[in-house]
Amino acid sequence: MIKMMNIGSRFFSPSMRMVICIPSGITEVEKRAVQDSAEHAGGKEVYLIHEPMAAAIGIGVDVEEPMGNMVIDIGGGTSEIAVIALGGIVCDKSIRVAGDDFTNDIEEYMRRQHNILIGERTAEQIKIEVGAALPELENPPEDFAVRGRDLMTGIPKEIYVSYKEIAHALDKSISKIEEAILSALEMTPPELSADIYKTGIYLAGGGSMLRGLDKRISQKTKLPVHIAEDPLRAVARGTGIALKNIDKFQFLIKA
Ligand SMILES: Nc1ncnc2c1ncn2[C@@H]1O[C@H](COP(=O)(O)OP(=O)(O)OP(=O)(O)O)[C@@H](O)[C@H]1O
Ligand SMILES: [Mg+2]
Repeated sequence: MIKMMNIGSRFFSPSMRMVICIPSGITEVEKRAVQDSAEHAGGKEVYLIHEPMAAAIGIGVDVEEPMGNMVIDIGGGTSEIAVIALGGIVCDKSIRVAGDDFTNDIEEYMRRQHNILIGERTAEQIKIEVGAALPELENPPEDFAVRGRDLMTGIPKEIYVSYKEIAHALDKSISKIEEAILSALEMTPPELSADIYKTGIYLAGGGSMLRGLDKRISQKTKLPVHIAEDPLRAVARGTGIALKNIDKFQFLIKA
């Protein structure tokens, strides 16, 4: 990343101030490794920020107010659920089920159900074109043509899949995320629960773009659910805002 920025020369490396986001479930050893690599890359002043906090800032939540807000970041590898208040993470839950598992589920489903082998890229495309979290959608996408190799004959073939099938294929993984959300809500102190009841849940991360996922989480929790404006970039945007407010935000971890 830093080489890509192409600043300074080989002899005069500018002193850089960095904010790097880390998953909230990171271990001390991993944290140390992030700090070391940042320093080796020329970071003179390095700060770390927890991803759910960065996501919340990126979404536009006032993280310092004395109000509880729940943010869920469904990325590729992990889903992180956090309750934030007064500039801190009050409780959080992180599980290793997210967008990439959805993709794997689709690959597996196509093999089992349709006897067709597809690659990861095709599975990802299916997820984006006809992926769904609910078997009934208000604006359903059209069936999608999938090409792959027939498991029996070895010959290329094409079949059509509907979003209903994909909703079925993803059901188990989504249930795991739902369980994690419920357990995070259970851990939440009652005063903050009352706030979340009013403001609802914020979703960020690429995985949150799955059709109907917001509605499904809303049905499960009976809470309003809002998807971030640009969910794929919420964490990066929040980290950028943190960099501009280094002196103001007390929750940045000084490396
Ligand atoms: N339109 C879409 N519908 C469903 N999933 C999508 C869509 N666009 C992207 N994704 C998925 O979002 C995931 C990537 O999201 P994101 O960039 O937030 O993850 P990440 O931050 O790289 O991962 P992590 O937070 O786990 O380290 C991928 O699994 C990708 O397939
Ligand atoms: Mg992420």
